Amino acid sequence: MSHRVILGIESSCDETAAAIVRDGRTVLASVVHSQIDEHAAWGGVVPEIAGRSHLEAIRPVLSEVFAAANLTHHDIDAIAVTARPGLLGSLLVGVTAAKSLSWAWNKPLVDVHHIEAHAYAALMSLDEWVFPYITLIVSGGHTSLYRTDSPLEHTLLGATRDDAAGEALDKGAAMLELSYPGGPSIEKAGALGDPKAYAFKLPMLDRDSLEFSFSGLKTALLYKLKGPGGKRTDPTLPESQDLSGMAASFEYAVAETLSRKCARACAQTGIPRVLVGGGVARNSRLRARMAFQGEKHGFQATFAKTEHCTDNAVMIAGLGHARLQAGCQADLLLDVAAR
Ligand code: KG4
Ligand code: ZN
Repeated sequence: MSHRVILGIESSCDETAAAIVRDGRTVLASVVHSQIDEHAAWGGVVPEIAGRSHLEAIRPVLSEVFAAANLTHHDIDAIAVTARPGLLGSLLVGVTAAKSLSWAWNKPLVDVHHIEAHAYAALMSLDEWVFPYITLIVSGGHTSLYRTDSPLEHTLLGATRDDAAGEALDKGAAMLELSYPGGPSIEKAGALGDPKAYAFKLPMLDRDSLEFSFSGLKTALLYKLKGPGGKRTDPTLPESQDLSGMAASFEYAVAETLSRKCARACAQTGIPRVLVGGGVARNSRLRARMAFQGEKHGFQATFAKTEHCTDNAVMIAGLGHARLQAGCQADLLLDVAAR
């Protein structure tokens, strides 16, 4: 049986998304309903709000994607869905929808791992694949380096010991009184700032480590905001400080650490190709620093397309296609998993 046109469904965090993709490559339609506005007041994703919001959005999003592609369910060959990792209540909405449609339309069901899908999003930027790759996934919940031997084979090389890069940017932005989500706000605030205005020590850990740690950087920002000797009681940015310089310097520290770790992973493994995916991969400073390190250390970095960095269902349908081709199929007993 050939599986060519796949309906992908994503609901692991705060985006309800559906996409229809042909041959794991050609996007026929993609719809993303973001809940950012519903969570902004809380400064982060609230699981109960997310679950309820997915429930309201899932049917309209599915109708919209078929309308946008000008297709009906007769035209699709299979349904792929994110089953892990993520918020349980959120994952359940997408998985229940996918199982129901698989049963009602009598179409194969395939389960997809959300992080592997972020890596697939970066592979979609390339016309030809030359395995292996070093893969960096940087999002609000994850910061990990993998060795990737195929779209389905990822070996963990190192991950963050504490905050994810996106989480550090989100928390740093909150300290700078910038709006949620913090990554794009810091990028905007720091666009014209001097990234060397404030010296942040790069959290590189010991010499050979491919692990990350961003909580110290967050504390360093807090101390800078509290002034010399940490004496100021109000940890927000004083008028006299340079907000754009502070944002640029903090963003630079995150981007530079991620880029140098990729260079280190390439040197250790002898693999000169890097894939970058996840929400933080949208960041221009990260793209620029990665290109700089690539030039310096002889590796080529490929980023997911901007619209495929943050959560979407194109990457779910794409990886679903690869999994079906490899004979991986789920049944109606498919369950969700937080990790
Ligand atoms: O992949 P994603 O949509 O969701 C997760 O799976 O976590 O990533 C969301 C994260 C947030 O932390 C957000 O601040 C960050 O990606 N982000 C950015 C940018 N756009 C989104 N970080 C830096 N620069 C951006 N332009
Ligand atoms: Zn994600």
